[in-house]
Amino acid sequence: MPVVFNTVGDLREFLNATRSQGKTIGFVPTMGNLHQGHLDLVNKAAEMSDVVIVSIFVNPMQFGPHEDFDAYPRTLESDCSALANHPCNAVFAPTVREMYPKGVNTEIDVPSLSTILCGHHRPGHFKGVATVVTKLLNIVQPNVAVFGNKDYQQLQVIRTMVADLLIPVTIVGADTTREPSGLAMSSRNAYLSKEERETAAMLYATLKNIGEALRSDSQVSTTLKQEKERLTSAGFVLDYLEIRDAQDLSKSYVEATSAVILVAAKLGQARLIDNLVVELKH
Ligand code: PAF
Repeated sequence: MPVVFNTVGDLREFLNATRSQGKTIGFVPTMGNLHQGHLDLVNKAAEMSDVVIVSIFVNPMQFGPHEDFDAYPRTLESDCSALANHPCNAVFAPTVREMYPKGVNTEIDVPSLSTILCGHHRPGHFKGVATVVTKLLNIVQPNVAVFGNKDYQQLQVIRTMVADLLIPVTIVGADTTREPSGLAMSSRNAYLSKEERETAAMLYATLKNIGEALRSDSQVSTTLKQEKERLTSAGFVLDYLEIRDAQDLSKSYVEATSAVILVAAKLGQARLIDNLVVELKH
């Protein structure tokens, strides 16, 4: 079992001892309820560092007032059991009071990226993510921090914030882990019924169909329209299905070297997101 620290002070003591032995630190921030996707991030962090820290913290600041903060699954014991079979040295599982002892007085925001796409549908979400990730990076001071490419917009927000604030860490994006059906692994898949889980696999098929049209530069807008209709008929309530420049998420992807197709949709109780990056030939 990895050792579990609940306070910033105890974790820092462990990290100081680790650093004084000349060891490098890899960090995987999570909200827990770990699945294979998270464990793959842990493996990736271990490939690049001597010691791996996983944080498990359901961050209230990134949930909207009508979102699933209370319902979000908290499974620390089974998370630690899963981590015991992976190269994780320590878990940081703070309370809300430990992370926000004086509430929220300082916010980190990347407005150019945090008000579009998911940020438009979840106002304040990325401010909450950027603020907690800054705090976690300041606590752990890792050499490398690994995030999933599945949360593509989140990763772009974090990369931009780290570059702008000169935070001395290498940010690594890791490939999305998928179910055999193609469904991207996510803690929120737990909200899907068996039938909905089968339907949810359509999202990745949609991304691949649009990716094909983009690569062959044919019928892109028709394919996009057809795919939106197909998802809606299957019961999805679409927040967006869009093609953007993969670097800055701007709408003008046509001249870009790579594009990203991003989707966010509700299916039953679950809000699902996924994306596919496509290299463009010019
Ligand atoms: O991706 C997540 O699980 C969360 O947004 C993160 C990065 C752990 C911040 O709370």
